[in-house]
Amino acid sequence: MSLCPNVVIAPSILSADFGRLAAEAAEAESAGAEYLHVDVMDGQFVPNITMGPAIVKAIRPASRAFFDVHLMVLTPERIADEFVKAGADGVTVQVEACVHLQRTLRHIKDLGAAAGVALNPATPPDFLEYVLDVVDLVLVMTVNPGFGGQSFLPLTVPKIERIREMILRADHPIRLEVDGGITAETAPLATEAGATALVAGTSVYGYRGGVAAGIEALRQAIRTAP
Ligand code: DX5
Ligand code: ZN
Repeated sequence: MSLCPNVVIAPSILSADFGRLAAEAAEAESAGAEYLHVDVMDGQFVPNITMGPAIVKAIRPASRAFFDVHLMVLTPERIADEFVKAGADGVTVQVEACVHLQRTLRHIKDLGAAAGVALNPATPPDFLEYVLDVVDLVLVMTVNPGFGGQSFLPLTVPKIERIREMILRADHPIRLEVDGGITAETAPLATEAGATALVAGTSVYGYRGGVAAGIEALRQAIRTAP
């Protein structure tokens, strides 16, 4: 049994107020979020451009949460080191953007960080087969990456279930994270399929009752799921 048992919440600061990033990061931690998800986009792998290691370094002192850096960039091996130096606890690379995937994941682990691999909605789980031994986290994209505020793609649910089965056969704990369109309505679909980390941008930072209420609504939804 190698699935991490507890479900963690990972607010995505992509949906936070960029003029107050450190305060927004601190607020998520005070509200009990175990992870802080940092979406890095390069304008090439995805059309959007967001933030680099300097931002991670700037907000690192504001939070003790696990800094979960998601690189939506081409050739992520060029910049993984910089994010670890800046304070990332985990670095996740997109399988579609990385030619030497096994070497890159091994390198991230050698730097002392958790190594994650992300799969776009159309990417089959088979890509994981020969890297699972060096992976600490698998990120299933439940939207096509690039922007916050998109709708959850239900076609990803059977994929989460399949990856859960693969992880159960692994000999070490691996966290199964989902990212995109996670709300109180969709979170139970993901956790029932096996997700143990919920990335949430709009449903936390855009929640009308505030960050703490957004996190609580997600926790409540997965507690009361049938
Ligand atoms: C999408 C990013 C997500 C995004 C999620 O490209 O990887 O992390 O911030 O945002 P919501 O929760 O709004 O779908
Ligand atoms: Zn992300």
